[in-house]
Amino acid sequence: MSILLDEADGVFRTRALEVHVTHVCNLHCNGCKHYINYNHKGRLEVSTFRQWISAWSKVLQPKKLRLLGGEPTLHPELPEFLYTAREIWPDTVTYIGTNGHFLDRHPTLLQALIDTQSRLTLSVHSKDPVYLEKINPIREGLKRYREQTGINLMETDVTEVWTKNYLGVGATMKPYGDKAPQDSWTHCTAKYCMQLHENRLWKCAPVAYLGMQLEKFELTADPDWAPYLKYDSLGLEASSDQMRAFLSRESEPVCGMCPARPPFVADKTIDWKDSFTAPRRRPGKRAA
Ligand SMILES: C[S@@+](CC[C@H](N)C(=O)[O-])C[C@H]1O[C@@H](n2cnc3c(N)ncnc32)[C@H](O)[C@@H]1O
Ligand code: SF4
Ligand code: SF4
Repeated sequence: MSILLDEADGVFRTRALEVHVTHVCNLHCNGCKHYINYNHKGRLEVSTFRQWISAWSKVLQPKKLRLLGGEPTLHPELPEFLYTAREIWPDTVTYIGTNGHFLDRHPTLLQALIDTQSRLTLSVHSKDPVYLEKINPIREGLKRYREQTGINLMETDVTEVWTKNYLGVGATMKPYGDKAPQDSWTHCTAKYCMQLHENRLWKCAPVAYLGMQLEKFELTADPDWAPYLKYDSLGLEASSDQMRAFLSRESEPVCGMCPARPPFVADKTIDWKDSFTAPRRRPGKRAA
């Protein structure tokens, strides 16, 4: 089963489409499939998002649109993305995926979710008690809003589904190189997570953001990665035949960079926890 659902009057309907409204994140989850734990920067302007999806809406209609990142609540105009998506793709259900820490920066977000019949999914990222102390009140708040308003607010415990997509860390990153793309694709949890990035379509997040990740760590010439950088994303110049072929592809050579059997990470960790832990006292120093 590919990402393509059907095709009518020149418009291709897909299971889903994901967009980074920002690459910035407050948490740094080790092994994030979007490589967001490496401090990437840059955010999408609402006007650019409007231009991109207006143009794509002539040929593409996703059943689900996921606004992600990075952490989407770090974008000051997040509610505007919901109204824009609703206007341009009225039959698409828009989701916000969030780690929840900055929901309070968006007093108009709940109304925007109601107005646009959109949904929000909270990712619970750790079993660390300090983290839970911070996230539990947010979970409770969302539960209350769900009961009061009927808005579709969900949560997922991602520590139960965390898998590894590459070997090493940062400058030592390597593809798995199992050379079994069909197996990798069959077991992949990101296979229906097509990305709109730089106004082009990409198969999934690990492929879409691979270029910026390898550039950051000066790995673009690494012969182990080079074959996967040859991946062709799809632009608006594509013909209908090219669109159909792109969206119908299941496993393809680029899937060879991923593990044939993605290993579950039982002890998912988050670096640079300063954003939610109390500062540690240095040995020998007394708290003021
Ligand atoms: C990249 S995050 C962006 C949105 C937001 N920052 C969040 O964490 O929900 C989108 C989703 O990808 C999932 N994800 C990222 N890396 C993953 C991995 N290695 N294994 C499983 N899920 C992963 C996250 O758990 C989250 O639900
Ligand atoms: S919070 Fe989301 S975007 Fe940020 S590092 Fe974790 S999974 Fe990636
Ligand atoms: S390259 Fe293929 S196997 Fe790897 S994450 Fe993307 S769709 Fe999944």
